Amino acid sequence: MTQHNRAKFRPSGKIQFGIFFQGVNSGTIWKAPESGSQTDFESFRRIAQTAERGLFAAFFLGEGLRLREHLGRPHALDVAGRPDAQTMLAALASVTSNIGLVATQNTTYNDPADLAHRLASLDVLSGGRAAWNVVTTDNAWTGANFRRGGYLDHADRYLHAEAFVETAKGIWDSWEDGAVSSSVSADSWAVPSHARSVHHSGQHYSVDVTPRLPRSAQYRPVLFQAGDSPEGRDFAARQADVIFSAHPKFDDAVEFRADIVSRSLAAGRAANDVQIMPASEFILAASDEEAREKKEWVRSLQIGPQQAVAYLEQFWGRELSAYDPDGPLPEIDPVVEETCETRGSGFHGAKARQLAEQWRAEAKEKGLSIRQFVSSRTARVDSTFTGSYAAVADTLAEYARVGAVDGFNISPWLIPTGLDDIVNHLVPELQERGVYPTEYVGSTLRENLGLATPVRAERNFRLTRSH
Ligand SMILES: Cc1cc2nc3c(=O)[nH]c(=O)nc-3n(C[C@H](O)[C@H](O)[C@H](O)COP(=O)(O)O)c2cc1C
Repeated sequence: MTQHNRAKFRPSGKIQFGIFFQGVNSGTIWKAPESGSQTDFESFRRIAQTAERGLFAAFFLGEGLRLREHLGRPHALDVAGRPDAQTMLAALASVTSNIGLVATQNTTYNDPADLAHRLASLDVLSGGRAAWNVVTTDNAWTGANFRRGGYLDHADRYLHAEAFVETAKGIWDSWEDGAVSSSVSADSWAVPSHARSVHHSGQHYSVDVTPRLPRSAQYRPVLFQAGDSPEGRDFAARQADVIFSAHPKFDDAVEFRADIVSRSLAAGRAANDVQIMPASEFILAASDEEAREKKEWVRSLQIGPQQAVAYLEQFWGRELSAYDPDGPLPEIDPVVEETCETRGSGFHGAKARQLAEQWRAEAKEKGLSIRQFVSSRTARVDSTFTGSYAAVADTLAEYARVGAVDGFNISPWLIPTGLDDIVNHLVPELQERGVYPTEYVGSTLRENLGLATPVRAERNFRLTRSH
């Protein structure tokens, strides 16, 4: 952060927690005896109510619009499918009263008038607790589910997302305060002239809509954003209230904060306008040593022998089931130039052969088997906080002091009891250090996150840009 920008940013000195019920991927253990159902409402209820007991700001659901696939087959080694986010959050709204309800929804395969109305409905029925985690998933593989294929050029996806979000904001902005009568003696239920129509005409869709709902208790759903490219970060700096980031490590988090502050200022917003909550995992116990042992156990269940081989298959682009997971990395070469991801794993492409060579050398030097090597590499490694409750609380207090993040979005590795030790032991340690809320300050998500109420914008609804 430049000196100038740093002066404008003020650390709040506090952190918040969100829970990210991922629903898919290898992070969630489903094989432990303590594991519950990954799809039944009871598991979602149990974990949302535990999070609320721990004063968590938000309950997040991820989104994947197609069953995961690996080498052209359904990938069922890990949890692979999940219930629809908004249906689940609507049900959770009725068994919770304070926690925010965040639906991850992509801008590529949804339609703005429809999605904006569904999110507004969740916001109204939950008393102002809804949020939208905006993602851009644009792969042809997901698109095939919608008869659209990869219809959106990769380079266009944030232009498209911006038009989508502007249209949604226009819809949520449409009804004026007081448009709906609060008195039974009024002449009409609503004043029709107090609801503006929204028009958008662009390359991918055209919309002409008169929104169906008045504003919610928090004005409109809070906007989260997840997507890490420079375009994604600029998009967040212009449009989002909170970024769900992939930068939990301390130095990286500080650097990411500086980057977002610069981008926010460049977008004409204030230095503190965009909050940041990185993805994270917590493995905790009464002592550091116990936590380290627990981590070994968790990893052994997250990366079983077949998962370890499947992980390498993404890079090699070929079947490797003949290889012993407890033996060395395959000596044969990948059959692809670019890595071919397990679809739905959020994986990024890389040069396959170069990587395979590098990994073989590294595993050999450290004496690691396939399983040990994969376990040391999976995405969660960077986002894991391991240690005693007190030690991890000290670490998080340092994040709060410098304002590296505004909170953490925690993926529990066990459903539905994976938040119990966080709520029972870590939260009180954080509260003692004065860095964690001791109550919900309001009834809406916007209030609990300390976000300003939007001002009804005088938008030009006749958007004619070609996206
Ligand atoms: C922390 C994080 C969580 C994400 N969660 C989801 C998700 O649940 N569903 C989804 O379709 N994409 C998800 N995405 C992917 C983004 O939508 C986006 O497609 C991807 O990051 C590529 O965009 P980028 O190039 O801007 O990073 C997530 C991304 C990040 C960084």
